[in-house]
Amino acid sequence: MQYPKEFIERLHLVWGTGFLSPGGPEEVLRIVEGLDLKGARVLDIGCGTAGPAVTLARETGARMLCVDVEDVVVARARRLVAAEGLEEQIEIRRIAPGLLPFDDDAFDVVFSKDSMLHIPDKGALFAEVFRVLRPGGTFAASDWLAGVGADDNPAFRRYLEVGHLDFEMATAAQTEAAMRAAGFEQVSSTNRAGWYRDLASREVDAIEGPLRDEILRVSDPVTYETWLAARRALRDAVKTEGLCPTHLRGIKPAGQA
Ligand SMILES: C[S@@+](CC[C@H](N)C(=O)[O-])C[C@H]1O[C@@H](n2cnc3c(N)ncnc32)[C@H](O)[C@@H]1O
Repeated sequence: MQYPKEFIERLHLVWGTGFLSPGGPEEVLRIVEGLDLKGARVLDIGCGTAGPAVTLARETGARMLCVDVEDVVVARARRLVAAEGLEEQIEIRRIAPGLLPFDDDAFDVVFSKDSMLHIPDKGALFAEVFRVLRPGGTFAASDWLAGVGADDNPAFRRYLEVGHLDFEMATAAQTEAAMRAAGFEQVSSTNRAGWYRDLASREVDAIEGPLRDEILRVSDPVTYETWLAARRALRDAVKTEGLCPTHLRGIKPAGQA
């Protein structure tokens, strides 16, 4: 289990209830900018505790089917959806890692925020995303990608050493190539490191400062210090663009089942 209850509480303190990634509703809406989601069937891969799904349902009118692999995360997501009164618009399902348990062409849009880095086989992932999208449907996501030359970037290497999550990061070029190999067209990626650089610094300041006592109420002091070191490393890795939050887009060509 990578996202136990205590870790979820810690992330919610920094990023807001329902969010296991940065940027809040504004960043979620930026990922789907320009798409008309009213009534659209949207799959959210790696939905976390459902902050993004609640934003999309409420702000765009999308019908969300959200999947995640962790029981604790899924339970927490259902709690938020119920508290927001959005059960008719958002379904949360726990799935096993691997193939997506959905029919071909089942969704108008596949969305994901900062979760695909946990899925090692990008080729298989994009093939599945392509399969479950209807022809003409859109894949709109963000993910943590490795920057150009990341392997030789000391800040990025430090982050890999001190970060405690399992992940497999690709570069933007590798990700775009994997999307095109799956059949996507109009593939694009937008590096968001410029945006996150300043926010990541402010988050570290908050973890060291105003949020410290609250975090220490949910986490023991050793966990707090280890996490602070990881968050500093993440900040430095983003600052040097070894680590790049990145928006991704691709279209499944119309007429292609
Ligand atoms: C960094 S969190 C992001 C959650 C949410 N999208 C957000 O932005 O708040 C990553 C999520 O991916 C989930 N995850 C990990 N491996 C997965 C897989 N193979 N399929 C779907 N979700 C996965 C984790 O359980 C976790 O909830």
